[in-house]
Amino acid sequence: MKVSIIGGAGRVGSAAAYSLVMQGLVDELYLLDIAGERAAGEALDITHALSGLGRDVSVEGGDDYSGIAGSDVVIVTAGVPRKPGMSRLDLRHQNVGIIREIARKVAKACDDALLFVVSNPVDVLTYYAWKESGLGRERVFGLGTLLDTLRLKSMLKKRLGVDYREESYVFGEHGDSMLPVFRLRHNHPRDELLGVFEEVRQGAARVIAWKGATWFAPAVAIARVVEAIGRGGVLPVSTFIEEYGLYLGHLAEISRSGVRRAEFELTEEEARLFQRSAEVVRRAIEDV
Ligand code: LAC
Repeated sequence: MKVSIIGGAGRVGSAAAYSLVMQGLVDELYLLDIAGERAAGEALDITHALSGLGRDVSVEGGDDYSGIAGSDVVIVTAGVPRKPGMSRLDLRHQNVGIIREIARKVAKACDDALLFVVSNPVDVLTYYAWKESGLGRERVFGLGTLLDTLRLKSMLKKRLGVDYREESYVFGEHGDSMLPVFRLRHNHPRDELLGVFEEVRQGAARVIAWKGATWFAPAVAIARVVEAIGRGGVLPVSTFIEEYGLYLGHLAEISRSGVRRAEFELTEEEARLFQRSAEVVRRAIEDV
């Protein structure tokens, strides 16, 4: 599988590249960045690690869109990141312009790739990437609430000893209006579960306050998606939601041919929160 990362010299982009190579999920990787030399440096650094990892991967980097030709997946991590105190939605005015330009160039440089948006606000940017690229709605998607879902499972285990295989998700906006979806086989007090969810909802902001940005958890979430593209899988990502005409975090079937919303029954309360999240994203899309 060939994967390209636009924003490949950034913290999330380079950590994702390293994660993909470490986990043996790619044969070919191209790191594209306006900081082309830095992207080439990241590529060479990872290339130097290949013998130690026992991997044979072609890793290149630069600032040339011809490098992404032939990609199965183009991941976009480029954009202005959040600073302490900012919400993801605060980034939209700057990052919509960036994603539009990238989507146009990607559609021109490789006509068969899946376009996978990671930059924030991810649900809003995925919508604009879809519109601007002219690609089918199933060919464009975003990382969405997979990241929050991984955080939730990690913290449920840490705080309450819940096994990772237990079913729980975060759906909706990858942002303040996200909602928890618990389908645990074992009983836990609801207020304890909601306490962990609340910690997770604010978890990225805490990491940003402490270390400036998040990159390891996003990188691993990206790797899980690339794995699902290669082997097929069902994960909560930002997927097209027919009734709202926009992208939102929901369980989705993922394969090399694209990403489509999976059947999943929500409770009345979850459906209400999901709709509220859709309204938040709709307003943000309109207000750009
Ligand atoms: C996070 C930021 C990247 O959740 O949205 O880590």
